[in-house]
Amino acid sequence: MSSRLDGAGIAITGGAGDIGAAMGRELSGLGASVTLIDRKTPEEAEPWLERVGEANGGASYVQADVRDRGAVDEALASVEPLDVAIGNAGIVDAAPFLEVTEEQWREHLDANLTGCFNVGQSAARLMVDRGTPGRIIFTSSWVQEVPWPEISAYSVSKAGLRMLARSMARELARHGILVNVIAPGIVSAGLAKRQMETEPQYARRVRNVIPLGEPQTAEQVARATAFLCSEAADYMTGSTLLADGGCSLFQFEE
Ligand SMILES: NC(=O)c1ccc[n+]([C@@H]2O[C@H](COP(=O)([O-])OP(=O)(O)OC[C@H]3O[C@@H](n4cnc5c(N)ncnc54)[C@H](O)[C@@H]3O)[C@@H](O)[C@H]2O)c1
Repeated sequence: MSSRLDGAGIAITGGAGDIGAAMGRELSGLGASVTLIDRKTPEEAEPWLERVGEANGGASYVQADVRDRGAVDEALASVEPLDVAIGNAGIVDAAPFLEVTEEQWREHLDANLTGCFNVGQSAARLMVDRGTPGRIIFTSSWVQEVPWPEISAYSVSKAGLRMLARSMARELARHGILVNVIAPGIVSAGLAKRQMETEPQYARRVRNVIPLGEPQTAEQVARATAFLCSEAADYMTGSTLLADGGCSLFQFEE
């Protein structure tokens, strides 16, 4: 059984971010033709595009905001073939529950959950219309199951992603489309890295909660995602692949 993805067309939203670019590098290294999609301008996105690496064939870039359905439809329609669509764009803005504003709440649901609905439905419609069923993957998080403090809106958006994937998996199975979730742990990149650098209470909590000891690398998330894209995962749908270093095992200080 091959883990190669030669000739596969893969679109990744949030592709001009740390985890999305690592996914792009891993998947193009396995032979896929990768399109990164992000709200950043092409100039802003350049450093992440470079990470994919010319040696791997590089990646194409399309600027689109996942909250804008028309832009998502246009971006995905430009990807042919579309074998895998990865809804990975996301935001986090920490606030104690008593202080979360309605605006912050909406922003999380719009970007993290509705953004993936847009990507998931748009990709699924393209796959059905083209008669080329493929896979849809959402980047959620271990906090889809575990209420980490001061990110209630984020955690709810990720819990919603899990049910979105399960609902889609059920309805799209008859079209041959597989829908799964990758749930990383605490990654030393992207959103969590920024929180570690700017929120002392976050950094303090992180030191105690990872049974495997170290934060995850973006490359480790990318490798687990590559599994979901591979032939070995061809009987998985509606699943969450939890790759969290044991965070959700509830390690307590002893
Ligand atoms: N870093 C972690 O510890 C961690 C852990 C678990 C899950 N995740 C998830 O991984 C995914 C990637 O996050 P990251 O850590 O690489 O952060 P990141 O900030 O490096 O990347 C996120 C990217 O999403 C883009 N984005 C945000 N809103 C967008 C929108 N409306 N439209 C289009 N693009 C948009 C940003 O421009 C950015 O490039 C997110 O879904 C995040 O929730 C991250």
